[in-house]
Amino acid sequence: MISKQALRKLSRILGPEAISTCRDVLDHYGTDATKLAYSPDAVAFPGHIREIADILRLANHEGFPVVPRGAGSGKSGGALPVQGGLILAMDRFDRILEIDESNHIAKVESGVITARLQEEVEKVGLFYPPDPASIHISTIGGNVAECAGGLRAVKYGVTRDYVLGLTVVLPTGNIIKTGVETAKGVVGYDLTRLLIGSEGTLAVIVGVTLRLIPKPVFTRSMMVFFKDPCTTVKAVSEIMRSKVVPTALEFMDRNCIECVRNEIGLSIPKSTGALLLIELDGDRALTRRETDTVKEICSQMGAIDFQAASTKKKRERLWEARRNVSPAVYKLKPDKVSEDVVVPRNRMADLVSYVNRLSQKYGLPMPVYGHAGDGNIHVNMMLDKKNPDELTKVDKAVRELFQKVLDMKGTLSGEHGIGITKAPYLSMEISKPAQELMIRVKKAFDPNGILNPGKIFPQRI
Ligand code: MLT
Ligand code: ZN
Repeated sequence: MISKQALRKLSRILGPEAISTCRDVLDHYGTDATKLAYSPDAVAFPGHIREIADILRLANHEGFPVVPRGAGSGKSGGALPVQGGLILAMDRFDRILEIDESNHIAKVESGVITARLQEEVEKVGLFYPPDPASIHISTIGGNVAECAGGLRAVKYGVTRDYVLGLTVVLPTGNIIKTGVETAKGVVGYDLTRLLIGSEGTLAVIVGVTLRLIPKPVFTRSMMVFFKDPCTTVKAVSEIMRSKVVPTALEFMDRNCIECVRNEIGLSIPKSTGALLLIELDGDRALTRRETDTVKEICSQMGAIDFQAASTKKKRERLWEARRNVSPAVYKLKPDKVSEDVVVPRNRMADLVSYVNRLSQKYGLPMPVYGHAGDGNIHVNMMLDKKNPDELTKVDKAVRELFQKVLDMKGTLSGEHGIGITKAPYLSMEISKPAQELMIRVKKAFDPNGILNPGKIFPQRI
């Protein structure tokens, strides 16, 4: 709870127009892509890094929580104000400060929308590969805080692989720079890596220096249809075994296909049980050769049809349909619990049939899609949260799914993070001594526990 006196001080730091306690604003900033909702006491819209430092010093003094927020596209509740307090909306930090063509670097503020950065760097022949499905709304700062992955991770890696350095405000109010603005650097502990994926619990990210690469000259996308989901994911292992690494290698089961059928823009054979969306890039000749290899493998694995998206417009339509799967599955039920487990690629067929069995056991739809090239599968457990029986079933199903994934030497989250939705399960994967060490790290950064409390760890910190 923020006291009236603290609110007056916040208003002095920010100016009265940059802090709000209006109900609409609190409601908007109190929810995110999880559709869970908590009420903050106020929302701040700082415009300068020094204001953030002053806010954090005040929060330590007055003892109120501060929750940094990008666009609220997070899938695990990382930006939700679960203990009330102040939302620190980074909306005004939206400048691309520099695109350095000779050093292949971009310097941006954390509120820049990811798709906007991609467009700008592509205008000068450079490329920022991380491509989360939420690219048109999510921000670079949010992507860094969660270490977002996305569609191109199979070939190009995740956000972590492109962050060279950060400018952050520590929970104590100190402003520091981490990392480098050069191609290499090994001075001191790698605080940049520690902060990436720390889910807004260790520092407020204000500036990001990103590594860019040259834009690939040629891109091909295609959709490959199979009769059943298990063969489809087996084909993924075979493609990777052939040493061809597609830019994107995405899987959708029949449930998902039905939900976006009209958006896909290519015709889908009747007997389709699952499909792969594949993108290859590079120079023209290599891309052609790799397309042939992939097609041959898919044919041997029993593919029933191929459709190439030959024009840019068709390609974009295809990928937009893929980006929309997550909201589209709400056609099946009003609510969902969405997981993003990862297993070794050669265990995906076992995972997909296990999810099918879980779905039958509990009598709930569980559409499955995701980044098959990474073994990162989004399992969506559809339910009606008003129905207590369905809630109990999903609780049980999630724990069973996680145990199965860990038995397969997988991990609970590939890209969405722990936040609040997976905190109850953290101990299934992370040992007690490892958790204790993480908690000591959190305390070293944030001795009074004011920054984004109640996240990641099952206990209240
Ligand atoms: C995606 O791949 O579409 C995103 O990670 C979102 C999601 O799966 O829910
Ligand atoms: Zn994803």
